[in-house]
Amino acid sequence: LKRDPKYAKISSEHVEYFKKLLGSESAVVDGVSQDASEDLEAFNSDWMRKYRGHAKLVVKPGNTEEVSKILKYCNDNMLAVVPQGGNTGLVGGSVPVFDEIVINLSRMNRIRSFDEVSGIFVADAGVILEVADNFLAEKKHIFPLDLGAKGSCQIGGNVATNAGGLRLLRYGSLHGNVLGIEAVLPNGTIVDDLSKLRKNNTGYDIKQLFIGGEGTIGIITGVSIQCAQRSPAINVAYFGLDSFEKVQTAFREAKGHLSEILSAFELMDGRSQNLVTKASGRKLPLEGEHPFHCLVETSGSNSDHDNEKLEAFLEHVMGEEIVSDGVVAQDQTQVLDLWGCREGIPECLGHWGGVYKYDLSIPINELYALVEETREKLTSAGLVGDSEQYPIVDVVGYGHMGDSNLHLNVPVRRYEKEVENQLEPFVFEWVSKRNGSISAEHGLGIAKKPFIRYSRSPTIIELMRQIKNLYDPNGIMNPYKYV
Ligand code: FAD
Ligand code: MLT
Ligand code: ZN
Repeated sequence: LKRDPKYAKISSEHVEYFKKLLGSESAVVDGVSQDASEDLEAFNSDWMRKYRGHAKLVVKPGNTEEVSKILKYCNDNMLAVVPQGGNTGLVGGSVPVFDEIVINLSRMNRIRSFDEVSGIFVADAGVILEVADNFLAEKKHIFPLDLGAKGSCQIGGNVATNAGGLRLLRYGSLHGNVLGIEAVLPNGTIVDDLSKLRKNNTGYDIKQLFIGGEGTIGIITGVSIQCAQRSPAINVAYFGLDSFEKVQTAFREAKGHLSEILSAFELMDGRSQNLVTKASGRKLPLEGEHPFHCLVETSGSNSDHDNEKLEAFLEHVMGEEIVSDGVVAQDQTQVLDLWGCREGIPECLGHWGGVYKYDLSIPINELYALVEETREKLTSAGLVGDSEQYPIVDVVGYGHMGDSNLHLNVPVRRYEKEVENQLEPFVFEWVSKRNGSISAEHGLGIAKKPFIRYSRSPTIIELMRQIKNLYDPNGIMNPYKYV
C-alpha cells in the first residue's frame, strides 16, 4: 500500500488555520509546529497495537459547526482525514494509514436531551457509552448496547461500526434503535436528520448508510436513539458443558424456559477461560475442566421471580445432563464477577503479545467446528505450543451465541507471516462456503479490506463504491480502508 499523492501534505499554514478555528491548545495536537510525537502516539496506534499511522495532526472539534468547517477546509485542500471516537475498534479503521489528519470527537460530549416518556435519548457523538448508560440508569432506562469497551468507546463510534455487543439478543441492532443522525459530509454540508420518530416511511432511509459506514462517507456528530426501560432485576448464571451439541440444546432450553426475560446468552470455550485465568489470575466460578461455558443473563421486573425461573432452568438442564455444573449469582458483586469472565477475554488474550481476531457470523450448528478445524490446522503445522519457540499460545472461540456470532481468536507471542498465511484466506473461505459473514459486528476497516468479496457480491461492492463516490468524490474520508 502506497500513500496516494493526490492528497496534500500538512503544512504549518494548515495547522495555523485549525489553531485559529479551534482556539484552545488542547483542541489541536500537532507534530508540525511542535515536537509532539509522543502526544500523537495514542491517536496513531490502535487498541491491539497492530496498526500504526503517522498522523502529524489531530484536531478535536467542540461542536458540529466546527466539524463542518474542518471538513470543508480539508476537502478544499485535498487533506485526507480519519474520524476517531474512543479508538477501541478492532479492524484498524480508527487510525490513519499514512499522514491523514485525525478528527477526534472526544470534545463533543454533551448529552442533548432525554424524554422520559418515549425513552428517546439525543447526544453528541463523542459521549462515552458508559457515561450515556449511567445517565440513562438514573432515569431508569438503558442504552440498547453494551460491550466490554464501554468505558472508552463513544456512541458515535458505536453507530459508525454498528456495534453489536452483549445484549443484541434482547435489544436488537443499532439499525433498528437509532432513530436519527446528525452528520457532516466531506464538503461541510450538515445533514440534520436527528429524527425522534419511531416510524418514518418517507423514502430512502439515508441514516442507515452512516450506521456501520465506518467513517467513510461523513462524520456522525449527533445521535438520537430509543432506549428501553431498565429492568430492575438482573440475574446471571454461568455453567459448564461437555460438548457444543449440549451448548445448542442449552440455548434452546434457555429460550423456552426464560423466554421474555432472557437478555444474554454468551459462549466461552474452556480454553478462552483458562487463558483469562492465566493472564489475569481471575479464579473461575466452577471447579474442574469444562470444554464449554455459557453465561446466561435475565432482565426482568421481579428479581425473586426471575431468580426462581433461572434456578428452575438450571435444575432442569443439570437434571437432563445438558449442563455439567452451574452457578447462579447471589448478589450484584457476583453478577459483575461472572460477567468479568466473559468481558475480560479480549484484554486477556492480548497478554502474550498479539492476537489474530476473526469476528464471524456462522450458521449456529457449525459455529464451533471452525475453531476445532483451525486448531487442528495450526497444530499440525507445528505452530501451537506452550513455550517461546511456538508463535501461537492457543486457538480459542467465544462470542455471542444468541446471535450466531463467533469470535475465533488466535493469541500469539508475536505476529508472524507464517501464522497469518495459515489463517487467511482459510478462515474466510470456510465462512464463505457456509454463506456466513467475515465481519459480524466489528466492521471491515483495513484488516478485512482484502476479503470483502468473501461476503459480498461484485454487484453489492460496486454499489458501495458508487455511494462512496457520491458522498465523498475527493475520497478524503478514511482513505485506504475498505471502500
Ligand atoms: P473508534 O474505534 O474510534 O472508530 C471505529 C470506526 O468508526 C473507525 O472506522 C472510525 O473512523 C469510525 N468512527 C468513529 N467515530 C465516528 C464518528 N463520530 N463518525 C464517523 N465515523 C466514526 N464491538 C462489538 O460490536 N461488540 C462487542 O462486544 C465489542 N466488544 C469490544 C470489547 C473490547 C475490549 C474492545 C477493545 C472492542 C470491542 N468492540 C466490540 C469493538 C467495537 O467496534 C468498538 O469498541 C466500538 O464500537 C468502537 O467505538 P469507538 O468510539 O472506539 O470507535
Ligand atoms: C467481544 O465480544 O468480546 C468483542 O467483540 C471483542 C472481541 O471480539 O474480542
Ligand atoms: Zn463481540
